Amino acid sequence: MKILSVVGARPQFVKLAAVADAAAQYEDVEHVIVHTGQHYDAAMSDVFFADLRIPAPDVNLGAGSGSHGRQTGAMLTALDEVLETHRPDWVLVYGDTNSTLAGTLAAVKMHVKVAHLEAGLRSFNRRMPEEHNRVLTDHAADLLLAPTEVARGHLADEGLETRTLVVGDVMTDVCLRVADAVADRTPMLPAGIDPAEDYAVATIHRADNTDDPERLAALLASLQQAPLPVALFAHPRLVAKAQEAGITLERGSVHVGDPLAYPDLVAAVRRSRAVVTDSGGLQKEAYLLGAPCVTVRTETEWVETLADGWNQLVPDPSGIAAALERPRPIARRSEHYGDGHASERVIDALRERSR
Ligand code: UD1
Repeated sequence: MKILSVVGARPQFVKLAAVADAAAQYEDVEHVIVHTGQHYDAAMSDVFFADLRIPAPDVNLGAGSGSHGRQTGAMLTALDEVLETHRPDWVLVYGDTNSTLAGTLAAVKMHVKVAHLEAGLRSFNRRMPEEHNRVLTDHAADLLLAPTEVARGHLADEGLETRTLVVGDVMTDVCLRVADAVADRTPMLPAGIDPAEDYAVATIHRADNTDDPERLAALLASLQQAPLPVALFAHPRLVAKAQEAGITLERGSVHVGDPLAYPDLVAAVRRSRAVVTDSGGLQKEAYLLGAPCVTVRTETEWVETLADGWNQLVPDPSGIAAALERPRPIARRSEHYGDGHASERVIDALRERSR
């Protein structure tokens, strides 16, 4: 059986690490990796392949950055030839990025079966590009690999239950594996933060937070007044938008670093007092690693993290400092996201359905 994975953005490389490992365990599984080129900086892409020991991509489409239509269109055009050459049994798409949608559309149009990993997540916020990508992908795909029962419920509500299989969360597979490997590692924090003292880890990259200069300024002001040092690992979009708006990132409590490699991020979150983010993946990693999280958004797809106060939604950036001061939750965290073996279930599901 031949599986062709389409990936392009940072969180997809983490998911791919788990799937590539599982695929390699089967002699009858050929796994082709196609990188769309959506993320191209070394810190956003290459280091993930190196650190997570993912085989080098077989194909790189070099799509690069651009408006949503241009970026997605460039991938779509390039994918036709790749699918004609490789003729996979399954195209596997991951999460909710423009690379996910392009992989899905290219495959369904060529009558190649599509499986969507991390199916059924919903924010119900139609302003988010990721929400368009998720809904369109789920409705086009043949097999919906859902991470949780909540996701299964959303798919059932949309009439997609018969195509759904709950496999657990593959990011959990990788996070738990990496957390063990870095247990003794001292976190790599920006200059000015002592890893032995309390600190918070912050990442901000969503257009809703970065692209409105007023909101971005309020967000930074709040982080800069945080009651503990904040290690802000800055995504290229954040750096660019802050510069355009004349906003200084490094001030007060905030110390700026480049985006981290995955094991370094896990090491930093593991020892942190708290996390501030608008990333989906990082909310869940904070939950798995036991760091209370402040999510600077109006909603979350990972609603399980909100139980018992481990994650708190803070739509208004002026509330960040107060949310960071809340006491550490005492409740135990549940195993909502699976047992660390989701990726094996993914490969089994595809093998069973390709006979
Ligand atoms: C994308 C995903 C988002 C995911 C995020 C993870 C979509 C719609 N969004 O958002 O769901 O959470 O990846 O990081 O697909 N840039 C660089 N170098 C890079 C990559 C990006 O400089 O390697 C800059 C470019 O200016 C680009 C901007 O960042 O225009 C945004 O990148 P893009 O891939 O379009 O979206 P992300 O914000 O990364």
